Amino acid sequence: MYRIVKAEKLADKIYLMDVEAPRVARACEPGEFVIVKTDETGERIPLTICDYNQETGIVTIVFQIVGASTQKMAALKAGDAFQDFVGPLGCASEFVHEDLDVLKNKKMLFVAGGVGTAPVYPQVKWLRDHGIDADVIVGAKTKDMLILEDEMRAVAGNLYITTDDGSYVRKGMVTDVVKDLVENQGRHYDVCVAIGPMIMMKFVCLLTKELNIPTVVSMNPIMVDGTGMCGACRLTVGDQVKFACVDGPEFDGHLVNFDEAMKRQQMYRTEEGRAMLRLKEGDTHHGGCGHCGGDE
Ligand code: NAD
Ligand code: FES
Repeated sequence: MYRIVKAEKLADKIYLMDVEAPRVARACEPGEFVIVKTDETGERIPLTICDYNQETGIVTIVFQIVGASTQKMAALKAGDAFQDFVGPLGCASEFVHEDLDVLKNKKMLFVAGGVGTAPVYPQVKWLRDHGIDADVIVGAKTKDMLILEDEMRAVAGNLYITTDDGSYVRKGMVTDVVKDLVENQGRHYDVCVAIGPMIMMKFVCLLTKELNIPTVVSMNPIMVDGTGMCGACRLTVGDQVKFACVDGPEFDGHLVNFDEAMKRQQMYRTEEGRAMLRLKEGDTHHGGCGHCGGDE
């Protein structure tokens, strides 16, 4: 069992939990994720890692209530425990393996949207710990929905906040800030990392393609097994089929087929949609998800 040592509500339907998971904390790198289960019969819930401490063995997760399982998770308090806390899963952010001297000469821009601010934080923190200051844009619907502002300010080079309704700092979407920094303020960026809702990542990528800034996105399609077997998290990246759980979650954003990914996300929610996908996609569905019935 994995004990929850802190449970906190950050905003409407958004929760933070510190969980005792020393083996996961020891192996964690920015960009990776975990799959948790509240109890024996609970659904497997993939969650991005917000922070980890190798000395205390604590892993911090942030999640949003989107259905019954996350609603059940939100009811857990400090002292309760998860049945399973599997990870770290997926591949670490590419920059973690880059030559530090090369990396220090790169100007990086992070674009975080809503709950996507949580997985951006450990990446920016890792860079700060290695002597690199990155610029960060955080977008939220309203001031009340903004999360981790102080934490992000402590690790970012420059932090730019924007709200859709203008209730805090400035009005507009994250793409307005990217445009402003590059076109009006003459900032140059060698790479952009965008993490948030798929629609945001799609529009950030359309813009950075125009601006000629290579862009990495973190994809969060529906995941079931997290081991590349069930086919739930299938994506098209360039002309290749990829599985977010084992090949990602980070990909070249200029190659991701976002429209297909968003449509697939909708279809996977229903039995009929899964049957359609099974017909269309064939042997990437091995039935390991327990929902789709596999290829037979
Ligand atoms: P949100 O809808 O509040 O959007 C956050 C910000 O994204 C907005 O403030 C805006 O600046 C920007 N944005 C949204 N639509 C845009 C558009 N069309 N063009 C340009 N910018 C746009 O975000 P939320 O409610 O926190 O998002 C929840 C979603 O994020 C869920 O679907 C969740 O699955 C996803 N999520 C993704 C990751 C990931 O790793 N990619 C991590 C956590 C959550
Ligand atoms: Fe990725 Fe099953 S969750 S293949």
